[in-house]
Amino acid sequence: MVRFWYASAVAAGAASLPLAVRAVRTIRDRRYYERQGVLFTKTYPFVGSERAVSGLIDRNKSRDYLYLDHPDTDFVGSIRGFDIQLYAVNREAAEALINPAITGKYIDRDTPARYSFGQLSPSALTFQPITSEHFSDRKRNIGKGFDQERIFAISSRRAAEYSGELAHGAAIDLKSVVAEYTRGVIGEFVWGRDTMSLPVSYKDDAGNVSQEPFMDSLNATFTRLRFYSNRFWNRVHFPMATWPVTREARNLQYNIKQIQDHLSRVLRGTPEPGTVWEHVAKGNDEIGIPLEITRDDLLTASIAGLDTVQNTILATLWYVLLPENSEWREAIESGAHEEKDKIVDACVSESLRLSPPGSTINNKVINDLDVRAEGGKYHLKKGTRVMPNMHALHAKYGDAFLPGRFLREKGSEPYVMPFGKGRRSCPGRNVGTIMAKNFVSEFITNHPDARVSNTGDNDVHFNNISRSNFMVVIDQGGVRESGSVGACPVRAF
Ligand code: HEM
Repeated sequence: MVRFWYASAVAAGAASLPLAVRAVRTIRDRRYYERQGVLFTKTYPFVGSERAVSGLIDRNKSRDYLYLDHPDTDFVGSIRGFDIQLYAVNREAAEALINPAITGKYIDRDTPARYSFGQLSPSALTFQPITSEHFSDRKRNIGKGFDQERIFAISSRRAAEYSGELAHGAAIDLKSVVAEYTRGVIGEFVWGRDTMSLPVSYKDDAGNVSQEPFMDSLNATFTRLRFYSNRFWNRVHFPMATWPVTREARNLQYNIKQIQDHLSRVLRGTPEPGTVWEHVAKGNDEIGIPLEITRDDLLTASIAGLDTVQNTILATLWYVLLPENSEWREAIESGAHEEKDKIVDACVSESLRLSPPGSTINNKVINDLDVRAEGGKYHLKKGTRVMPNMHALHAKYGDAFLPGRFLREKGSEPYVMPFGKGRRSCPGRNVGTIMAKNFVSEFITNHPDARVSNTGDNDVHFNNISRSNFMVVIDQGGVRESGSVGACPVRAF
């Protein structure tokens, strides 16, 4: 018996040794950066800054809000898992991380998202180093599929349909309407009308299995994966989100397998003409990319524009419909084509400044590098997580909704990056903006008297981890003339 206890104690000691070594290394690295002038957020042993992040999540805000209040700093540090994570909070520090020409070194992807929605498409471009073979070709193939005229046609048709069908007189949940619009547009754009609706087996959070249209299952699984990985312990130790230890984790893994198997079968067929699927499959096939990687790149293209576009639309409508911003609502309603386009564009841009739906994806230093910023020089060690904090950069311009900032002369706009910047930035920027503008324009033009009915709710924010509602009452008046912006979609950008 004594021997058993002795052996157990030795085994437990041996298992916890690597953890203790990691913890000591983290403390040492933190001191190293503090000596260089990096300010750290409040952290606790083993759980890092996650306690404070929980408070933000409860208020529908993302972790990025932890770093807004350090205007005189270049980098703010925190402890994420056992890693040091540095956030660049001013322009010079952010540019040094984005542009390899400044430091002469690449910084590369290493992101906890891999354990979240990354489970759906682990070999997608999003999770590969920029230096990996065919990175640029694959990104170019995705870009080639993003035909702006086609997304304009699909999104203006669907925006008119959804906007025209809204019930009048009673409060409606705009969030679910916009989610359906976004899912429908992206599904048709990437896969085509028939393929997006093929049935897939889906388990809901109670474990009930049903056959659902492919895009519905994908959207729900993607959103649930992100919410699940945001639970406290899954944030402290990211891989825990993939362990089949809870019913939700097992349900999600069931859905992931169904989606991946379904797509592997679909991709052996013939793509619907003009779809992103057709372009990416053709381009990737020409350079010998295996089907599994093409599947994951297409999965990324199918999910990256769901919650991001949805929240861009909701945030923009929220700001524009608030009584204090009525001048912008009137300007959209009464504007003629090109003028309307510019105004809607400015309203969407200002909403993306105030409420960016996501953040830049986390990266890691792969070779030690020196960064020069406003406050001096920093030596960043291999293995440190780094990213520009777009929320801090955007917050510099205040919290008032002033779309006029984006209507001034070129070059005088605020320094913003809701889509990231540089080679890793969002390839769907134009696609997402067209989708958002068409819905906003259509909705405001048709329902200029719409009234938000939940302005009294606490902590309303729209971003990829928010659970805020958006309740709106539409006047009894009826639908007016269609409001899609700009005659030529490409010219609008
Ligand atoms: C308003 C809507 C959107 C916003 C705010 C947004 C924002 C972002 C951001 C911040 C990133 C990370 C950039 C970085 O880490 O530097 C990203 C990546 C990405 N986005 Fe978007 N996005 C939007 C719409 C879309 C749409 C509609 C698509 C596709 C149809 C898309 C496809 C992608 C892809 C594939 C990546 C990964 C790029 C890579 O890893 O190199 N996005 N997006």
